Amino acid sequence: MCGIVAYLGTEEAYPILIKGLKRLEYRGYDSAGVAIINGKDINLFKCKGKVSDLESHVGGDDPVGQIGIGHTRWATHGQPNDTNAHPHLSGDGNLAIIHNGIIENYNTLKEELINRGHVFHSDTDTEVLAHLIEDVRRQTGEDLFESVRIALHEVIGAYAIVVLDKNNPDQLIAAKKSSPLVIGIGEDGTYFVGSDATPIIEYTKNVVYLEDEEIAMLDRNQGLKIVTIQNREKTPYIQELEMQLETLEKGGYDYFMLKEIYEQPRSVRDCFRGRMNLQKGMIRLSGIELYEEKWLNAKRIVIVGCGTSWHAGLVGEYLFEEFARIPVEVEYASEFRYRNPIISEDDIVIAISQSGETADTLAAVQLAKERGAHIFGVCNVVGSTISRATHSGAYTHAGPEIGVASTKAFTTQVTVLTLMALTVAQKRGTIEPERLHRLIAEINSIPDKIEQVLELNPIIERISEIYKSATNALYLGRGYSFPVALEGALKLKEISYIHAEGYPAAEMKHGPIALIDQEMPVFVIATQGPSYEKVVSNIQEVKARKGKIIAIVTTGDTHVKSLADHVIEIPKTDDALVPLVCAVPLQLLSYHVAVLRGCNVDQPRNLAKSVTVE
Ligand code: G6P
Repeated sequence: MCGIVAYLGTEEAYPILIKGLKRLEYRGYDSAGVAIINGKDINLFKCKGKVSDLESHVGGDDPVGQIGIGHTRWATHGQPNDTNAHPHLSGDGNLAIIHNGIIENYNTLKEELINRGHVFHSDTDTEVLAHLIEDVRRQTGEDLFESVRIALHEVIGAYAIVVLDKNNPDQLIAAKKSSPLVIGIGEDGTYFVGSDATPIIEYTKNVVYLEDEEIAMLDRNQGLKIVTIQNREKTPYIQELEMQLETLEKGGYDYFMLKEIYEQPRSVRDCFRGRMNLQKGMIRLSGIELYEEKWLNAKRIVIVGCGTSWHAGLVGEYLFEEFARIPVEVEYASEFRYRNPIISEDDIVIAISQSGETADTLAAVQLAKERGAHIFGVCNVVGSTISRATHSGAYTHAGPEIGVASTKAFTTQVTVLTLMALTVAQKRGTIEPERLHRLIAEINSIPDKIEQVLELNPIIERISEIYKSATNALYLGRGYSFPVALEGALKLKEISYIHAEGYPAAEMKHGPIALIDQEMPVFVIATQGPSYEKVVSNIQEVKARKGKIIAIVTTGDTHVKSLADHVIEIPKTDDALVPLVCAVPLQLLSYHVAVLRGCNVDQPRNLAKSVTVE
């Protein structure tokens, strides 16, 4: 979490930093700050709140200077307030630093530094880094680049940092371990640094992704130099960004979340494009073909992820077990990594992560890799840490997702998992060619079906209006729709702050039924399929307790319509593909409820999009 941005060039730094911070605000938004060198001074502005609060704090006169750093924070150490906001200064006031990550041994370091006379003002681990670098520089007499390298030897934890020295307006030092950092290379000694490429894309397409334990010097005169923490010089590997600037803008929508919901027909199509052959009834995923033997001989699949990605993993469990006939376990990455799991070389671990940076998922990948499993990544962000840490994988190709609440990431993750399960099934001979052919045709029609669901937006908005003041909500589904019920509940709670629970419909009677009264909206996924009749019985149970039923049904359904208070009719599809369609009305519903309640949909309180701390 936390977004960091830096600029060194011939333009004024402040507007570039502010624009960059706004692009990175999805990573954290409880305080923000910039430090810009002007002559021999560091102009430091920082405050609690969002980047727009920082702009007000700065006032009318933009700080002047062509080198600066900026930060938007998601608090870990210390409350979100003005003092804890980044950048932080060294004790002598010469250095300013921004940091994303967690310094685990910050307390020990802090005590040592206090013993050596350092005085701290904030509760953050970052301020300790600033003092540590200053201390090393004073004691060794080395330059800043070398001092940062030596200081980082002392540090345990995760960091992406940028440091500037007010006495050297020609240079920035950046370093990374376990938190992402990208360097943009502009013309004539112009450099950019970002937590991701979004603040950079507007200025240059040439980037270098810093690797773990690498330190970079960006210097107007000396150019770009990278060394490892062990002082091995590295040749910068310059890559060209494929990202388009338009994909980072709201494009006329009020919120990124709404834009991303509406992008789903396209993102799902981009996800399967080139991977399915409709005529031949075949699917090809190079990440699976590369390691075909592993998949043919797999005894078990373990899927790891967090949040929405974990929900997509649950759909994956149903898909792999039904089609590829391989037993599947789905684990929260955070639990998996700390419970000494039994993993063998015949296991395949699928790591799902939109950002490709989630700390727990990355740690789960590393653990499973050490124990010999084959690791397959399902990531959205190309070149992200998890995508690079896996043996192979398949990108979701959803395009940048900015809204904190995941939408198109979910449907594209489920699309990839569907393609994977069917590819493996086809190779293992566990699916009839006929059925595979039909499913491929059906997957091909999903974008149109999502399009039809999006046309229901006015109906969904009206239903949202009715339930916007609810304090609790229950989401029920069975089979493939159960994970979607969990995802529906997560969407509502994270952006509207209404308490919501997802449950397997039949499990309701073992607890949540006690909560049902005339105030309780119950969202039920009751599409045509193997569990239809059973879900209808569950609806009856809710109705008998006067609960309000909002049912998602297959177009033309009359039975549930006669029982429910409201229905949302979605186009018929194969039961295995229902999650791809029925997730969408639930996303829209949460969106409208949150907007009607006056919530900031793209930046819900306390959340961050990319959770790079465990
Ligand atoms: C955060 C986000 C969620 C996301 C989860 C996992 O909690 O707010 O939307 O599902 O992290 O993120 P990942 O990038 O690994 O999919």
